[in-house]
Amino acid sequence: MSTLTDEIQRRRTFAIISHPDAGKTTLTEKLLLFGGAIHIAGAVKSNKIKKTATSDWMEIEKQRGISVATSVMGFNYGDYKINILDTPGHQDFAEDTFRTLTAVDSVIIVVDVAKGVEQQTRRLMEVCRMRNTPVIIFVNKLDREGRDPFEILDELESELKIAVRPLSWPINIGAKFKGVYNIYEHSLDLFTPNKQRVSERVEIDDLNDPRIDQAVGQADASKLRDDIELIDGVYPEFDKDQYLQGKLAPVFFGSALNTFGVKELLDCFVEIAPSPRPIQAQECTIKPEDEQFSGFVFKIHANMDPNHRSCIAFVKVCSGVFERNAPYKHMRSGKILKFSSPTAFMAQKKSIVDEAYPGDIVGIPDTGNFKIGDTITQGQTIHFRGLPSFSPEMFKYIENTDPMKSKQLEKGIQQLMDEGVAQLFVNQFNGRKIIGTVGQLQFEVIQYRLLHEYGAQCRWEPISMYKACWIESDDQQALEAFKKRKHQFMAIDIEGRDVFMADSNYVLQMAQNDFPKIRFHFTSEF
Ligand code: G4P
Repeated sequence: MSTLTDEIQRRRTFAIISHPDAGKTTLTEKLLLFGGAIHIAGAVKSNKIKKTATSDWMEIEKQRGISVATSVMGFNYGDYKINILDTPGHQDFAEDTFRTLTAVDSVIIVVDVAKGVEQQTRRLMEVCRMRNTPVIIFVNKLDREGRDPFEILDELESELKIAVRPLSWPINIGAKFKGVYNIYEHSLDLFTPNKQRVSERVEIDDLNDPRIDQAVGQADASKLRDDIELIDGVYPEFDKDQYLQGKLAPVFFGSALNTFGVKELLDCFVEIAPSPRPIQAQECTIKPEDEQFSGFVFKIHANMDPNHRSCIAFVKVCSGVFERNAPYKHMRSGKILKFSSPTAFMAQKKSIVDEAYPGDIVGIPDTGNFKIGDTITQGQTIHFRGLPSFSPEMFKYIENTDPMKSKQLEKGIQQLMDEGVAQLFVNQFNGRKIIGTVGQLQFEVIQYRLLHEYGAQCRWEPISMYKACWIESDDQQALEAFKKRKHQFMAIDIEGRDVFMADSNYVLQMAQNDFPKIRFHFTSEF
């Protein structure tokens, strides 16, 4: 019988992140193929959301409904249990992605060899860095013309601000792409462009093996040897501890579409990627091996159908064993709850589970008990630290247009914020409510959902705003002085924290100059 420790050790819970179109969906699908979780390519379509025109968000929501099934993809690969947490491709849902990253133990970043590091990758990497999440980078689309791999490595290092170490190396790219030398395993894989087949492996002893010359030709073989010599000279040896601390990212090259370099990535991943790690709660550090169950809600997926107003709360198991029908304590309300139909996600199917282990995600049907960031335990008093909020990009005043329905509006706003659809700030000067989002789409989603789910009507009013900054200071007097001076621009967030609403970059800079004792943060976790 397996012990709790065995179950923890064999789990790998991670997310694949990328800028839209770099190949995240394709790579996910190929990983599922290797795990036998699906049998045909083209089965993972949830990320096609991003291809929809931004204005057509109903269509997006419909697809989001489908994507519940692919929110978490669990499968077995050898002795390992793998959980891939899906992240939305559409950048207006970036906040969802940030939160999902709090529930993973590591990350694979996909980068397009032609485009290099793009904007969304940079932002997501910032979140990984904040939490020291280990990352592996997969440079994709080597079958297409792209940039020089050395140049890509430099860019990864400077743009993502992390040391890199190639563990595989391409032999040419684009039309001349011949294969990849696996530095980690000292093996050579030849490229055969074929969407379904796995590449051909050439048995070699080492880099000097003449079989390399036979396989790829003398010129490319000697270029490969020169490149590897250069790599060994320039980049430090791969150090697993550095990787686990989030300081060093191993880099693989390949082509997800051609299933090339994917197995190498997966084999190395399961070997080096961390199993569930201890998590710092407010009170103490929670180890996955701790006997008592604990977990937190990192995502709430609402059913948009007004006839079935239920949600699924996604809970990451942090310690102990989660059991169906066991009494658990919901820390925020103090209520004892039992979950009769928790679901797990295996091979893209949702099914009721009796137990789940650290690293696993369970979906709990909910009718409004949960808020993202909530902690559930077997009775012990712990609070996992809240999920980080980032300063939104867009702000609007929300106004009630049906005075008879102000209660419904209040409730609707509250619940949508609990779900994490957007952020609410209440201006302390005039009491007006400001909604902050990552993209225009959320305003439309909120307005529609308030009407259809709560019967409340609202209108948006423009507001000129640059950033929401969470403020703090060791000097209470200085803090009070600042709040007094800026009282027109002070707001509180949903947790009651002080937020300075800067209306321009200039104003923010002036405030930073004038009040050196105040620290301004662009995320709520500091
Ligand atoms: P994303 O989830 O990161 O947004 O990217 P996705 O996997 O959807 O891939 C984006 C496009 O890039 C897709 O083409 C996909 O087929 C292609 N692609 C992915 N990996 C590779 C690769 O290794 N080589 C090449 N040449 N192309 C790759 P599409 O035409 O937009 O979509 P589809 O109609 O083929 O699905």
